[in-house]
Amino acid sequence: KDSLVEMNLLEKGNYINYKQQLDNVNIVKERLGRPLTYAEKLLYGHLDKPHEQDIERGVSYLKLRPDRIACQDATAQMAILQFMSAGMPSVATPTTVHCDHLIQAQKGGAADLERAIRLNKEVYDFLATACAKYNIGFWKPGSGIIHQIVLENYAFPGELLIGTDSHTPNAGGLGQLAIGVGGADAVDVMAGLPWELKAPKIIGVKLTGRMNGWTSPKDIILKLAGITTVKGGTGAIVEYFGDGVDTFSCTGMATICNMGAEIGATTSVFPFNNSMVDFLDATGRSEIGQFAKVFQKEYLSADPGCEYDQVIEIDLNTLEPHINGPFTPDLATPVSKMKEVAVANDWPLEVKVGLIGSCTNSSYEDMTRAASIIEDAASHGVKAKSLYTVTPGSEQIRATIARDGQLKTFTDFGGSVLANACGPCIGQWDRQDIKKGDKNTIVSSFNRNFTSRNDGNPATHAFVASPEMVTAYAIAGDLRFNPLTDKLKDKDGNEFLLKDPVGVGLPVRGYDPGENTYQAPPEDRASVEVVISPSSDRLQKLTPFQPWDGKDAERLPILIKSVGKTTTDHISMAGPWLKYRGHLQNISNNYMIGAINAENGEANNVKNHYTGVYSGVPDTAAAYRDSGVKWVVIGGENFGEGSSREHAALEPRYLGGFAIITKSFARIHETNLKKQGLLPLNFTDLAAYDRIQPDDEVDILGLTELAPGKNVTLRVHPADGSPAWDTPLSHTYNSEQIEWFKYGSALNNMAAVKAS
Ligand code: F3S
Repeated sequence: KDSLVEMNLLEKGNYINYKQQLDNVNIVKERLGRPLTYAEKLLYGHLDKPHEQDIERGVSYLKLRPDRIACQDATAQMAILQFMSAGMPSVATPTTVHCDHLIQAQKGGAADLERAIRLNKEVYDFLATACAKYNIGFWKPGSGIIHQIVLENYAFPGELLIGTDSHTPNAGGLGQLAIGVGGADAVDVMAGLPWELKAPKIIGVKLTGRMNGWTSPKDIILKLAGITTVKGGTGAIVEYFGDGVDTFSCTGMATICNMGAEIGATTSVFPFNNSMVDFLDATGRSEIGQFAKVFQKEYLSADPGCEYDQVIEIDLNTLEPHINGPFTPDLATPVSKMKEVAVANDWPLEVKVGLIGSCTNSSYEDMTRAASIIEDAASHGVKAKSLYTVTPGSEQIRATIARDGQLKTFTDFGGSVLANACGPCIGQWDRQDIKKGDKNTIVSSFNRNFTSRNDGNPATHAFVASPEMVTAYAIAGDLRFNPLTDKLKDKDGNEFLLKDPVGVGLPVRGYDPGENTYQAPPEDRASVEVVISPSSDRLQKLTPFQPWDGKDAERLPILIKSVGKTTTDHISMAGPWLKYRGHLQNISNNYMIGAINAENGEANNVKNHYTGVYSGVPDTAAAYRDSGVKWVVIGGENFGEGSSREHAALEPRYLGGFAIITKSFARIHETNLKKQGLLPLNFTDLAAYDRIQPDDEVDILGLTELAPGKNVTLRVHPADGSPAWDTPLSHTYNSEQIEWFKYGSALNNMAAVKAS
């Protein structure tokens, strides 16, 4: 500890380490001999070994020490189950879990929450007790959406946070580097391992001028998405700079960073400024704001003369409100062009539903701006033409707008206030106003609008916009409406123009915390029992994997030789299988069921090497495992591309796999396999992939001398009885990772180190 300023008001003993981070930054600066951007300072300030780490943007891999982990309830289940299997008494890095994804919007806030608590009881009971046991803060269902809770309670300038949700970057609005990761990465950091990230490139977005009228922070990211497309930020951090960044609120900056996920950015961040100090004050954390000011010049700002890999400039003076969609968040249309574009594309013109709120846009400012438009419309006797829903991002926001009257404005308008949860944003929406397949338009203030995301209907045309624009569309009920120029008719048939929205950045009377929905870990954690019903089909305790037996592997069957693309969706499908994310045995029944078998061109139909009987891939793998036989998979190029889901590596390990041998791997999947104790190996002679036949048996030789950069040997025993042949296999293990293989998993290794 280098200060007496605590990271937040909810935990004791976790102090802010600016001094240490600045020391690290100075070491790196001296080594690189160049000025650093704000994002670089935050990254390099958290290096595990700043003296010796290779640092080249877009090239080297950084080993980092995050300050905090946040998990949402869908991804937390397997992460915590894995952590439990390591046998450690508590998490090594401060962690919180947030119940927000499993609440379906049906009737409205209270009723939906009550129903979700009933339906998901076993998951919530497990998470609540596991959090209590392992010293994790637990936010109960109804508390709000992970990113709002983090912003209101945990985020602060200069912090490095990882979160198991893609919109974790939301906290960049408070000057924090907040990065979305897969569960496997979160488990490592929970267990005290450093976290690895490819050194991102830095895209600078220069904001000049000042927004006015109907334009809001959301329009900055809607415009940027149109410029960069959904891939433009891949492998990069978006760092905002320029005089425009000091002209709007902290929550507005959070909206922009949140939706930076839609351009593929690693994260987005604003440098520390006065709006952040104001937000920290309003959320009871003035001390942090003052402390940050002390480090502002040296640590919490970009160095003069720092260089970005790319610079994009946006002039806020002339920025128009935008509407992005349908079906993709980068199809950006300025409001002045929407009429023309919507008609030309034959998009359904009637707006059926306007949805405001979500983790992206549910700040007090958003709510007050939306309410101001409704009040204006109401003063002319006008109500909503479309259905209208409001999703508060947190209990604190809900309670504050209930106290200050905006909530009543929404309901008087005909709006329905949903639970403080993800709801329709993640498809948890029991939509009744149309039938599946009906072509229709909805406009939301969310961040994503992929096909079927909100209501499961592929014919729904979903658009994203700011809450004030969504509200204007709900009033007019028509996608062609431009509130800046088009008049509406009042109750007497007279025309009027809606007034520009006006909002309040922070509540004048302070935030009302509402109901207390936080469960702090108890003092006595040893006696807490983690609740997992043995009959549950959604949750299952994990048993640590067996260590390597110290021998080369001989005469292993090939479970499947896959051809064509083998993505993480082929390896471990999503969709209906999501339900089993906390149950390794059940979810393993989807292992490789989407991969194509080279022998017969079919999916999920492989021959048992010993019985000759064809059956599903998972059944065959389990049959091998149950008779004590290890097996391998043979695959093609970029094996395991797609998501970072750790189930794609846990499943083959659970089913008794020994090695996955491919032409090449997607990097994250390769690392996940290593972490679970499987051997990811590559053909150095690519022709060997073609030569090897699904019915052959293989040896893997040289494992006792496994060392970085040293090949092992694959000996193939052809099924036709012809002589065995050898081919070299390469690997990317470093010496630390070799220990993971020997111990049976990275977690086993970690637990052993901690115990010694
Ligand atoms: Fe939830 Fe949607 Fe945000 S799913 S975390 S409200 S992007």
